[in-house]
Amino acid sequence: MRVLVIGANGTTGRLLTEQLAASGHDVRGMIRSQDQADAVRERGGTPVIGDLEGELAPAFDDVEAVAFCAGSGGATGADATLRVDLHGAVRSIDVCRERDIARYVMLSSIQAGEPLGGAEKMRHYLAAKHAADRILLDSGLDATVVRPGGLTDDDGNGHIEIGVPALPERGDIPRADVAATMLACLERPSTIGATFELISGPTPIAEALDQL
Ligand SMILES: NC(=O)c1ccc[n+]([C@@H]2O[C@H](COP(=O)([O-])OP(=O)(O)OC[C@H]3O[C@@H](n4cnc5c(N)ncnc54)[C@H](OP(=O)(O)O)[C@@H]3O)[C@@H](O)[C@H]2O)c1
Repeated sequence: MRVLVIGANGTTGRLLTEQLAASGHDVRGMIRSQDQADAVRERGGTPVIGDLEGELAPAFDDVEAVAFCAGSGGATGADATLRVDLHGAVRSIDVCRERDIARYVMLSSIQAGEPLGGAEKMRHYLAAKHAADRILLDSGLDATVVRPGGLTDDDGNGHIEIGVPALPERGDIPRADVAATMLACLERPSTIGATFELISGPTPIAEALDQL
């Protein structure tokens, strides 16, 4: 599958690029600067330039599926969150609709389903994720919304716990297992239309997704 990873120079995006390429997919890694191209190539992807706040559409040339792993990051203010996590995500959804790129897997966040239930300093972020997820799910695209708990850089172990639409408790999960879950979603049409939270847990990823 020809997959565009948005946020391919990010921590999760790099892992997903590597995992997709290792699984035989043709990965286009969207980056904002040529300086980041080697990071994509080293992981088996083809770098393409695109900016969620700038020129975007050419990065989607000849793409069959999109995996959104971008984010403005925790250090930025609410304005950047709106520009990247919400408006940038919506712009990418619009390009998919214009180009008839049907498949879209969104890396969202735990608690994005209930943004007002989150800590006050997180609410603008959760509201941005909530809105982007809703717009994606209403877009007519073949969407899957993946909402992980706190991301860690621990090694992945391929085991998760899933809550549909939400888990009863929060928890953490290695980025490697989030990437592996996104890869497994891309390879499983049965996950189209699903929205779920995930943290580390006892169930192999494939088995957890088959229970959706
Ligand atoms: N941290 C957590 O605990 C947590 C929990 C749940 C969900 N999430 C979500 O998981 C996702 C991935 O997190 P992460 O920590 O792996 O991300 P990250 O390392 O912060 O990477 C984010 C990537 O987004 C890119 N980006 C930012 N603005 C962009 C723009 N305008 N156009 C294109 N790309 C842009 C960045 O590009 P540059 O490399 O050029 O800066 C970076 O590569 C995010 O959506 C985050 O909100 C995080």
